[in-house]
Amino acid sequence: MPRKLAAGNWKMNGLRASLSELETLAARHSDASVDILICPPATLIGACQNTLFDVGGQDCHTAESGAHTGDISAQMLADAGATYVITGHSERRADHGETDEIVAAKSDAAYKAGLIAVICVGETLDEREAGTTLDIIDGQLAGSIPEGATADNTVIAYEPVWAIGTGKVPTLEQIAEVHAHIRAKLQARFSDGADMRILYGGSVKGSNAADIFGVPHVDGALVGGASLKADDFSPIISALEAS
Ligand code: 13P
Repeated sequence: MPRKLAAGNWKMNGLRASLSELETLAARHSDASVDILICPPATLIGACQNTLFDVGGQDCHTAESGAHTGDISAQMLADAGATYVITGHSERRADHGETDEIVAAKSDAAYKAGLIAVICVGETLDEREAGTTLDIIDGQLAGSIPEGATADNTVIAYEPVWAIGTGKVPTLEQIAEVHAHIRAKLQARFSDGADMRILYGGSVKGSNAADIFGVPHVDGALVGGASLKADDFSPIISALEAS
């Protein structure tokens, strides 16, 4: 059984004052039985080092270095203390036109830097309503996960775009269907696909976390808004520990 993972994606939120939330979290979960990952803005990665948490970037460039003003390489994230990086988040795909090919190249760059890539996939509301969810997921999995992926260097996050930041959550049956489908695809393609962690993301809260973590093949969560405050993230971590 892969070790479960509670991951917080702070997105473009967080100033140095926010680090006190992590101190509170660390005090409450010092003996956590699950992995805890915080992906703060890049400005806080260096200041986020804490023995309890892993720290991750939210994006990286495909190249190690070069003339790419404003971008950050995977190697730089690792140098700052990160051990993970999120790739292919739907906000990057939508706001920055990131294709599956780019996401695969970024994930490869993560591997080269020794980082674990949290590769995100998920359908839009239109795609779900058109009944094409599993086809969309298949395309994203095939195109975004590099050949070199293993259970040690890759985590998959299923984040339905329509559930992100909306308070809308798929039914447990819908989550179960997609997670089982992703598991089957990972097992068909990778020899250790059974052990690759698959996270659910999209409006996870303390009040729905236990139900979601009870779904087969949900190995943890990628949490946005509810990861910003210790009081909100802590019950999610506790629910994952109890699952
Ligand atoms: P919310 O938890 O705010 O819906 O965000 C989910 C997400 O996008 C995490 O990457």
